[in-house]
Amino acid sequence: MVKVFVPKESRVNETRVAATPESIKKMVKAGLEVAIEAGAGMGAFIADERYESAGAKVVSDRVAGFGEADVVLTVVPPETADLAATKAGCLLIGLLSPLQNLDLVRQLSSQGVSSMAMELVPRISRAQSMDALSSQASIAGYKAVLLAAERLGKYFPLLMTAAGTIPPAKVVVMGAGVAGLQAVATAKRLGAVVEVSDIRDVVKEQVESLGGKFIELPDLGGGEGEGGYAREMTPEFLAEQRKIVTRHIQAADVVICTALVPGKKAPTLVTAEMVAGMKPGSLIVDLAVEQGGNCELSKSGEDVMAGSVLILGPSNLPAETPIDASQLYARNVWALLEPMLQEGQVVIDLEDEVVDGALLTHAGEVRNAMTRKALEGDGA
Ligand code: NAI
Repeated sequence: MVKVFVPKESRVNETRVAATPESIKKMVKAGLEVAIEAGAGMGAFIADERYESAGAKVVSDRVAGFGEADVVLTVVPPETADLAATKAGCLLIGLLSPLQNLDLVRQLSSQGVSSMAMELVPRISRAQSMDALSSQASIAGYKAVLLAAERLGKYFPLLMTAAGTIPPAKVVVMGAGVAGLQAVATAKRLGAVVEVSDIRDVVKEQVESLGGKFIELPDLGGGEGEGGYAREMTPEFLAEQRKIVTRHIQAADVVICTALVPGKKAPTLVTAEMVAGMKPGSLIVDLAVEQGGNCELSKSGEDVMAGSVLILGPSNLPAETPIDASQLYARNVWALLEPMLQEGQVVIDLEDEVVDGALLTHAGEVRNAMTRKALEGDGA
């Protein structure tokens, strides 16, 4: 019988969990034996008893949990010591951030652990239910706007009061992928006026359908690169883009930054000089902070005061909405794992586009090309 282990997340402030009673019921029904570390669901308000009722065994020996598992399900990467206990041939599934965790990748491949990074799941229609990047980014975009609304010293909606009219807040969203579009929708629901900058042509219509105004940029012959993502723009283009958005940012009360380019440092879209020209009391939420930030002054996990502009660099917003973030993530993970089960075994089918795409390490090899390249550059 395939043994699945769900550890308690070890990273500080990580409140999410990779399996919920709902997903565990499905695993048990599919014939898997599931063990979950005691307290694993605590951050997401799921008591051990609920996991037990769903058919999981609650265990307190973490090392044995890793050691006995055929499949380990996590949110973020486990610790070095956890992996040391993991047997060769075990399958680890999680948001493994391979490019930020090259030592982990080395350890996984040298130990012969197979691993699938949820970030690498190809974004094709068949894999939409497995798309953890989208489920988590959407939460981050929503939460970023709520964070801004809470910290901003003014209303978001237009208000007509006996004491006069309060104009709506102006929100500029940089980058309209999954997080950015959710930020647009949330800011609109709160009554703000929303403007958006992105470099992919397809985005304009999506922004407008949510009630946002698209900031036109010079024609660049399509900012779309591989897989529907953005491509890396030249420094000259970015300088031109900054010139165009400066006017909008100076009129804004809130700037939400979400612009990313896969495998690259996030583009610098808001310089220190631009921040100095912003309105007193305005604020920036930089969701790209972990990839180097869209704002030159943002710092991961910190609030930075630049003159009278507040810059927030939240590092893990999905963990601040742990109930829904875990619910969606657990569904994403199960949607990936379920089709790999054949006659009671986990089968890693390298011919399957989704499996092959998500596979980070397997049989002692690093399978993902971008990660291999990063390892070579890192001297491995
Ligand atoms: P992402 O997190 O990599 O990037 C966020 C946004 O930043 C993107 O819209 C990108 O165009 C933008 N960006 C990059 N450089 C910029 C710059 N200089 N200025 C302004 N914006 C910039 O992207 P995300 O959110 O992960 O997804 C991007 C797209 O992938 C989606 O909009 C969609 O088209 C596609 N996708 C497809 C799915 C599918 O199942 N087919 C599922 C999810 C996403």
